[in-house]
Amino acid sequence: MKKPYQKPTIVKLQIGTLREQKSALAQRVRFEIDGVPVKDLLQKFGSPLFVFSEKRLREQFRYAKRLFETHYPRVEFSWSYKTNYLDAICRIFHQEGATAEVVSEFEYEKARRLGVPGEKIIFNGPYKPRTILKKAVEEGARIHVDSMDEILDLEEIAKELERKISIGIRLNLDTGIYPRWDRFGFNLESGEALQVVQRIAAGGQLEIVGLHCHQGTFILEPAAYGRAAEKLLGFAQKLEEAFGWTIEYLDLGGGFPSRNRLKGLYLPPEVAVPPLSEYAESIAKALLSNLNSRDYPLLILESGRALVDEAGFLITTVQAVKRLPDGRRAYVLDAGVNLLFTAFWYHFRVDLGEEVLGPPEPSVLYGPLCMNIDVVEEAVNLPPLSRGVPLVLSPVGAYNVTQWMQFITYRPRVILITEKGEAEVIREAETLEDLVRLERVPAHLR
Ligand SMILES: Cc1ncc(COP(=O)(O)O)c(C=O)c1O
Repeated sequence: MKKPYQKPTIVKLQIGTLREQKSALAQRVRFEIDGVPVKDLLQKFGSPLFVFSEKRLREQFRYAKRLFETHYPRVEFSWSYKTNYLDAICRIFHQEGATAEVVSEFEYEKARRLGVPGEKIIFNGPYKPRTILKKAVEEGARIHVDSMDEILDLEEIAKELERKISIGIRLNLDTGIYPRWDRFGFNLESGEALQVVQRIAAGGQLEIVGLHCHQGTFILEPAAYGRAAEKLLGFAQKLEEAFGWTIEYLDLGGGFPSRNRLKGLYLPPEVAVPPLSEYAESIAKALLSNLNSRDYPLLILESGRALVDEAGFLITTVQAVKRLPDGRRAYVLDAGVNLLFTAFWYHFRVDLGEEVLGPPEPSVLYGPLCMNIDVVEEAVNLPPLSRGVPLVLSPVGAYNVTQWMQFITYRPRVILITEKGEAEVIREAETLEDLVRLERVPAHLR
């Protein structure tokens, strides 16, 4: 019998790939997650499937907390809800001692519903509706003001409540990181921040007890945090002298990178991403060497992705095999950019969920959406796959199960592998009922 034609494959050898696997032709297979076979998970819960590891979540949190506490005596981690606000994930971080960092009415209410008291909530963000802002003030949340309009709102609320309100202010500053996230808060270098503070002091209704900044996400330069810490501390000392306030805390936001591969970065994350210890050292050094015998302010960190990303996996299954007109092999998966919003910025690690024989070739991974943008990976070396082969993508724990879209198809189940190795559903798959529940049809259309 005539053998089918198989296109020859040329594979570019890359330093990173060689370092990690010895050969670019080697396969990466992941049979299990925390001891639970991928096959069993698929059989029981279906495909696609998000899977989180409780063990990894707890271990990473404890590691980060201990690391920063080794370098600086007073540290608080505040869990960034937007990074992943599934109840079970938030509960794990709260159990570990994290407070909540929220940026909207919805996130504030979600944290309260989970039992987080107001005083353990940091309320950030550029838009805080008046009613929830007042509630947060009454409940003792730490409010970080973002604009002059919000300051006016807070002054009104102070009058209504007939008391002074303690606030934090968000600053944006030059730490050498570009593009600068300068649309949030008040600029330090231009003098805007000082002007705003003078206005706050003159108003007599508010007092500043904390300074906040967040430089961006996936920041690969630890020294930028040292610069931020030094600038915040310098500004705090200025405010204490000029206005007699006590700046109780400095909040350096989040932004520490996870071991993910940012598009455009040539080196693999093992090489390109600095260890968390360098960030801790840089911050602590800047604070400890500039404290001038004042009390240690509380250091708050709102780390999101660095705590959760590597604890998340997405199991997806090949549903169709294609050969594109230019000769490339392509696969249609049951998960696409509807579930993996971060696919626009990161290259995921793609592991086979079972062993597959055959020479690898650069392949395209498409999602199930009938839209041209639905590309999960443009070129990943894979052996010839057939329908039904599972793939495990990681790390996907940050920003996917919050930014996912209900577009064209249902969102799947999310599973937590507990520390005991049991697989628990932490979010059910959507059904048609869930999706039409909020729709209304006017009488004339019925
Ligand atoms: C104010 C604030 N804090 C914390 C975070 C979490 O950032 P990351 O996940 O990069 O640590 C964000 C994310 O953009 C943010 O806007």
